[in-house]
Amino acid sequence: MSTAVHADVNRRDFLFIATGAAAAVGAALTAWPFINQMNPDASVLAMASIEVDLAPLAEGQEITIKWRGNPVIVRHRTLKEIEAAKAVPMAELKDPVARSEVANDGDPATDENRTVKGHEQFLIMMGVCTHLGCVPQGDNPAKEFAVVEGSTKTGGWFCPCHGSHYDTAGRIRKGPAPENLLVPEYKYLSDTKIQIGA
Ligand code: FES
Repeated sequence: MSTAVHADVNRRDFLFIATGAAAAVGAALTAWPFINQMNPDASVLAMASIEVDLAPLAEGQEITIKWRGNPVIVRHRTLKEIEAAKAVPMAELKDPVARSEVANDGDPATDENRTVKGHEQFLIMMGVCTHLGCVPQGDNPAKEFAVVEGSTKTGGWFCPCHGSHYDTAGRIRKGPAPENLLVPEYKYLSDTKIQIGA
Protein backbone atom coordinates (compact mmCIF):
# COMPACT_ATOMS: atom_id res chain seq x y z
CA MET A 1 0.00 0.00 0.00
CA SER A 2 1.36 3.38 -0.92
CA THR A 3 0.78 5.98 1.76
CA ALA A 4 1.62 9.65 1.67
CA VAL A 5 3.15 11.06 4.82
CA HIS A 6 3.50 14.77 5.21
CA ALA A 7 6.09 16.48 7.31
CA ASP A 8 5.93 19.61 9.38
CA VAL A 9 8.67 21.69 7.88
CA ASN A 10 10.15 25.13 7.93
CA ARG A 11 12.14 26.87 5.27
CA ARG A 12 15.29 24.86 5.80
CA ASP A 13 13.62 21.54 6.24
CA PHE A 14 12.47 19.06 3.71
CA LEU A 15 10.41 15.95 3.53
CA PHE A 16 11.49 12.42 3.95
CA ILE A 17 10.15 9.55 1.93
CA ALA A 18 8.75 6.64 3.86
CA THR A 19 9.21 3.26 2.26
CA GLY A 20 6.76 2.84 -0.56
CA ALA A 21 5.38 6.25 0.10
CA ALA A 22 4.95 9.41 -1.87
CA ALA A 23 5.66 12.69 -0.15
CA ALA A 24 4.44 16.17 -0.90
CA VAL A 25 6.48 19.30 -0.44
CA GLY A 26 5.14 22.06 1.75
CA ALA A 27 6.66 25.42 2.56
CA ALA A 28 6.84 27.26 5.85
CA LEU A 29 4.30 25.03 7.51
CA THR A 30 4.42 25.25 11.25
CA ALA A 31 1.05 24.30 12.66
CA TRP A 32 0.46 20.65 13.29
CA PRO A 33 -3.35 20.95 13.23
CA PHE A 34 -3.06 22.35 9.71
CA ILE A 35 -1.03 19.34 8.65
CA ASN A 36 -3.55 17.13 10.36
CA GLN A 37 -6.30 18.55 8.22
CA MET A 38 -4.25 18.01 5.12
CA ASN A 39 -3.51 14.46 5.99
CA PRO A 40 -6.60 12.70 7.20
CA ASP A 41 -5.67 9.35 5.72
CA ALA A 42 -6.88 6.82 8.28
CA SER A 43 -4.40 4.25 7.05
CA VAL A 44 -1.58 6.58 8.11
CA LEU A 45 -3.09 7.00 11.54
CA ALA A 46 -3.19 3.28 11.98
CA MET A 47 0.31 2.49 10.73
CA ALA A 48 2.02 0.35 13.30
CA SER A 49 5.47 1.21 12.03
CA ILE A 50 7.05 3.61 9.62
CA GLU A 51 10.44 3.72 7.96
CA VAL A 52 12.32 6.99 7.76
CA ASP A 53 15.28 7.69 5.49
CA LEU A 54 17.72 9.86 7.43
CA ALA A 55 20.23 10.31 4.60
CA PRO A 56 18.87 13.62 3.28
CA LEU A 57 18.65 15.16 6.73
CA ALA A 58 21.61 17.50 7.05
CA GLU A 59 23.21 18.43 10.34
CA GLY A 60 21.09 21.03 12.10
CA GLN A 61 17.91 20.07 10.28
CA GLU A 62 14.84 18.33 11.57
CA ILE A 63 11.58 17.03 10.27
CA THR A 64 8.34 16.17 11.97
CA ILE A 65 6.57 13.10 10.73
CA LYS A 66 3.26 11.58 11.61
CA TRP A 67 3.14 8.19 13.25
CA ARG A 68 0.05 6.63 14.78
CA GLY A 69 -1.62 9.99 14.55
CA ASN A 70 1.02 11.85 16.53
CA PRO A 71 3.96 13.99 15.51
CA VAL A 72 7.45 12.55 15.83
CA ILE A 73 10.43 14.89 15.72
CA VAL A 74 13.51 13.61 13.92
CA ARG A 75 16.50 15.90 14.32
CA HIS A 76 20.05 15.62 13.02
CA ARG A 77 21.82 17.34 15.87
CA THR A 78 24.98 19.36 15.59
CA LEU A 79 28.05 18.40 17.57
CA LYS A 80 27.48 21.38 19.84
CA GLU A 81 23.94 20.29 20.58
CA ILE A 82 25.15 16.82 21.50
CA GLU A 83 27.96 18.19 23.64
CA ALA A 84 25.54 20.56 25.39
CA ALA A 85 23.17 17.68 26.14
CA LYS A 86 25.94 15.46 27.49
CA ALA A 87 27.32 18.25 29.67
CA VAL A 88 24.14 18.73 31.70
CA PRO A 89 24.54 17.42 35.28
CA MET A 90 21.81 14.92 36.08
CA ALA A 91 20.97 16.89 39.23
CA GLU A 92 19.81 19.79 37.06
CA LEU A 93 17.19 17.73 35.28
CA LYS A 94 13.59 18.25 36.26
CA ASP A 95 12.75 14.72 35.12
CA PRO A 96 15.66 12.36 35.87
CA VAL A 97 14.14 9.41 33.98
CA ALA A 98 15.07 8.77 30.36
CA ARG A 99 11.48 8.18 29.13
CA SER A 100 13.05 6.28 26.30
CA GLU A 101 11.85 3.16 24.54
CA VAL A 102 15.40 2.59 23.32
CA ALA A 103 16.62 2.33 26.91
CA ASN A 104 15.43 0.32 29.87
CA ASP A 105 12.57 1.34 32.11
CA GLY A 106 13.76 3.78 34.76
CA ASP A 107 17.15 4.43 33.20
CA PRO A 108 18.53 7.90 33.93
CA ALA A 109 17.89 10.71 31.47
CA THR A 110 21.37 10.83 30.03
CA ASP A 111 21.79 11.83 26.42
CA GLU A 112 23.07 8.31 25.76
CA ASN A 113 19.83 6.76 26.98
CA ARG A 114 17.75 8.95 24.69
CA THR A 115 19.61 8.02 21.52
CA VAL A 116 21.05 4.88 19.99
CA LYS A 117 24.76 4.25 20.47
CA GLY A 118 26.74 5.13 17.37
CA HIS A 119 23.91 7.33 16.09
CA GLU A 120 23.91 10.04 18.74
CA GLN A 121 23.53 12.71 16.10
CA PHE A 122 19.94 11.64 15.48
CA LEU A 123 17.38 12.45 18.14
CA ILE A 124 13.98 10.85 17.59
CA MET A 125 11.17 11.72 20.00
CA MET A 126 7.45 12.34 20.17
CA GLY A 127 6.51 15.93 19.37
CA VAL A 128 3.92 15.87 22.12
CA CYS A 129 4.43 18.15 25.12
CA THR A 130 4.13 16.17 28.32
CA HIS A 131 2.07 18.92 29.92
CA LEU A 132 -1.14 18.94 27.89
CA GLY A 133 -0.06 17.60 24.55
CA CYS A 134 0.78 20.62 22.40
CA VAL A 135 3.51 20.35 19.80
CA PRO A 136 6.81 21.86 20.97
CA GLN A 137 8.42 24.20 18.48
CA GLY A 138 12.02 23.73 17.47
CA ASP A 139 12.46 27.10 15.85
CA ASN A 140 11.04 29.39 18.46
CA PRO A 141 13.24 32.22 19.74
CA ALA A 142 11.60 31.99 23.16
CA LYS A 143 13.18 28.64 23.88
CA GLU A 144 15.98 28.30 26.39
CA PHE A 145 18.50 25.50 26.80
CA ALA A 146 19.37 25.71 23.12
CA VAL A 147 22.76 26.10 21.51
CA VAL A 148 23.30 29.45 19.85
CA GLU A 149 25.42 29.13 16.76
CA GLY A 150 24.42 32.22 14.88
CA SER A 151 21.45 30.39 13.50
CA THR A 152 17.76 30.53 14.18
CA LYS A 153 17.74 26.74 14.13
CA THR A 154 19.67 25.98 17.23
CA GLY A 155 18.21 22.95 18.87
CA GLY A 156 16.10 22.77 21.96
CA TRP A 157 12.32 23.03 21.88
CA PHE A 158 9.74 25.36 23.30
CA CYS A 159 6.08 24.62 23.87
CA PRO A 160 4.18 27.84 23.27
CA CYS A 161 0.99 26.67 24.98
CA HIS A 162 2.18 27.22 28.53
CA GLY A 163 5.90 27.84 28.19
CA SER A 164 7.74 24.56 28.63
CA HIS A 165 11.38 24.47 27.55
CA TYR A 166 13.12 21.29 26.43
CA ASP A 167 16.86 21.01 25.91
CA THR A 168 18.85 19.59 23.01
CA ALA A 169 18.11 16.05 24.21
CA GLY A 170 14.38 16.80 24.48
CA ARG A 171 14.46 16.84 28.27
CA ILE A 172 12.14 19.14 30.19
CA ARG A 173 14.13 21.92 31.81
CA LYS A 174 11.63 24.66 32.64
CA GLY A 175 7.87 25.17 32.63
CA PRO A 176 4.86 23.09 33.63
CA ALA A 177 5.59 19.93 31.62
CA PRO A 178 6.41 17.13 34.09
CA GLU A 179 8.35 14.74 31.88
CA ASN A 180 10.91 14.57 29.11
CA LEU A 181 9.60 14.17 25.57
CA LEU A 182 9.06 10.47 25.01
CA VAL A 183 11.55 8.63 22.80
CA PRO A 184 9.48 6.06 20.92
CA GLU A 185 10.49 2.53 20.10
CA TYR A 186 12.63 2.54 16.98
CA LYS A 187 15.58 0.69 15.47
CA TYR A 188 18.17 1.22 12.78
CA LEU A 189 17.61 -0.85 9.66
CA SER A 190 20.83 0.58 8.22
CA ASP A 191 23.12 3.49 9.03
CA THR A 192 20.69 5.89 7.41
CA LYS A 193 17.31 4.28 7.85
CA ILE A 194 15.19 3.76 10.95
CA GLN A 195 11.96 2.00 11.64
CA ILE A 196 9.73 3.65 14.19
CA GLY A 197 7.38 1.23 15.87
CA ALA A 198 7.35 -2.53 15.67
S1 FES B 1 0.98 21.83 26.63
FE1 FES B 1 3.08 22.32 26.53
S2 FES B 1 3.38 23.68 28.16
FE2 FES B 1 1.28 23.16 28.30
